[in-house]
Amino acid sequence: MIKYTNYTDNTSEMKRFDIAAIGELNVDFILNGIESEPEIGKEKFASDMIVTLGSSTAIFAANAASIGSKVCFVGMTGNDMFGNLVAESLQAKGVDTSYLIRSNDVATGATICMSYGEDRANLTYQGAMDVMGYDDMDLSVFENTKHIHLSSLFMQTALLRDIDKVLAKAEENGVTVSLDTQWDPIEKWAMDWKNVLPHVTVFLPNEKELMALTGTSDVEEAIAAVQPYLGNAMVVKMGSKGSLLIKKDGSRNFLASFFNKEVVDAIGAGDSFNSGFISAFVAGHPLEDCQRNGNLTGAINTTAAGGTGAFASREAAEKTAKEKFNVELL
Ligand SMILES: Nc1ncnc2c1ncn2[C@@H]1O[C@H](COP(=O)(O)OP(=O)(O)OP(=O)(O)O)[C@@H](O)[C@H]1O
Ligand SMILES: [Mg+2]
Repeated sequence: MIKYTNYTDNTSEMKRFDIAAIGELNVDFILNGIESEPEIGKEKFASDMIVTLGSSTAIFAANAASIGSKVCFVGMTGNDMFGNLVAESLQAKGVDTSYLIRSNDVATGATICMSYGEDRANLTYQGAMDVMGYDDMDLSVFENTKHIHLSSLFMQTALLRDIDKVLAKAEENGVTVSLDTQWDPIEKWAMDWKNVLPHVTVFLPNEKELMALTGTSDVEEAIAAVQPYLGNAMVVKMGSKGSLLIKKDGSRNFLASFFNKEVVDAIGAGDSFNSGFISAFVAGHPLEDCQRNGNLTGAINTTAAGGTGAFASREAAEKTAKEKFNVELL
């Protein structure tokens, strides 16, 4: 078992990567200016389209790399032109792609995002993201990273099936683990959380996900349900309210969000929170400081469009932190 009380051993190790992000990869086709809703048997026009790297785990990886962590990505795409787009986009963000898996059997996943004002109707073909399991991975990644971040489990059938193996391998190698399950699109919440959470160093749900996972309709009830199973700590993300840190011993720290009076959008705020929290965590900072950094990167995310717009560089994020929120980015 890993001892979670002292992280200094972990931080002093010279590993090639601070964080291996294990998760889904896809391209987004974002259609804007749609004249009316799609109808079977009819053709309609959108006045604008953006083709870009999608995936919430990719936002996490890109922003963690941007603020200074050494990040690699473990994920699967097809051996096709969209797989090239994904790999090149990650590289452009400073994320190492040597652990990407290119499948000849299945295409890169894609999401068609139809924007209607503030709302979006999304349609996803999971493709390669759904088939990457433990046996597909180059297991040397567990020797080469301090930490793994697992995300969007319910979009990845094979990874969810193999979660025990991934967690056991991490434990065997003294690698700490964070988990953000994200929402389950089919709302079955078929994760054996009582067996999974004890092996997770930092669990990172939002309020709705925590309630859905535990089958409760009250946040306090949901927290009480998972508390005995926490491996080390949990942070419940609460949107513009802020976040609640809960440690294994039951102690809590609520931290209000940094107020942004000019929110552009909150797309990817949760992933940006994760990137700030985990970057501070792998650098050896106490959990309360990691939480403050997470709230800060979540707030920085809301100052520009999309999940990565505010994290063009560490300098840009530092400048926003100072000028808008009067806080130092860790
Ligand atoms: N409007 C906002 N103003 C300031 N900070 C915000 C705002 N929205 C989110 N944050 C910060 O970002 C953190 C994460 O956001 P949120 O709770 O929406 O995560 P999430 O539900 O996982 O989001 P996502 O939909 O990206 O997965 C919050 O805990 C908060 O600190
Ligand atoms: Mg989230």
